[in-house]
Amino acid sequence: MRRPLVMGNWKMNGRRREAQALIAAVAAEAATFPGVDVAVCPPYVYLGVAADGLSRCPAIAWGAQDVSAYGDGAYTGEISAGMARDMGCEFAIIGHSERRTLFGESDGVVAQKFARALAAGVTPVLCVGETAAERDGGHTREVVLRQIGAVFASCGTGAFDRAVIAYEPVWAIGTGRAASPDEAQAVHREIRNAVAQRNPTAAVGLRILYGGSVKAQNARELFARDDIDGGLIGGASLVAADFVGICRAACPDLA
Ligand code: PGA
Repeated sequence: MRRPLVMGNWKMNGRRREAQALIAAVAAEAATFPGVDVAVCPPYVYLGVAADGLSRCPAIAWGAQDVSAYGDGAYTGEISAGMARDMGCEFAIIGHSERRTLFGESDGVVAQKFARALAAGVTPVLCVGETAAERDGGHTREVVLRQIGAVFASCGTGAFDRAVIAYEPVWAIGTGRAASPDEAQAVHREIRNAVAQRNPTAAVGLRILYGGSVKAQNARELFARDDIDGGLIGGASLVAADFVGICRAACPDLA
């Protein structure tokens, strides 16, 4: 049985005080979501706030929203996977659609970042997903499998032995229009099958998160599906009560 995982992606929001308050509020409720792995991903500059606020809260991990495709060195403005690990990050979000579309990250760059995270001992959370136009054109499967294939091509068959995939349809991110549980489940199944073709063992244990307008109200129905192992939460992760509600919806005894 895969342990559910709920991750909060704060994106570029908040200030130090808000980060402290949000982390304290979620940590205070940790006992109310037993059996769920939970992580928060603040902006890099507040990773220390997460480390301070969560060091005595083993139930909640923290992660980075990205890592550099390069190792340490002369790359002004970049943050290496090794630095993220050094700040206690257990996870790093890799290839979020905002990175792909706004910052021009190709499948190849995303694969390099994924490899850097793995090498540093940080679990990569690979984001995949189609745009509205790709979906309307019937290309969802092809896009998602291409994004995963690029990581297999560069990291080898063992790429997903210790990794997470997040299916985030671009049209659902921040729009208030989540994929239906049936739609999401169908794509998650395709993803698991695609990984199984290369590595059957990894596919069984692989956690595939759904992301895109997850709220406390729709989380339970999404997480109840066979191949939906939790969520990557944007907007709702900025409000403690909403995020905690989603974490509770992932509790195995409620599924
Ligand atoms: P959202 O964002 O929950 O605000 O739709 C999800 C994400 O971008 O990870």
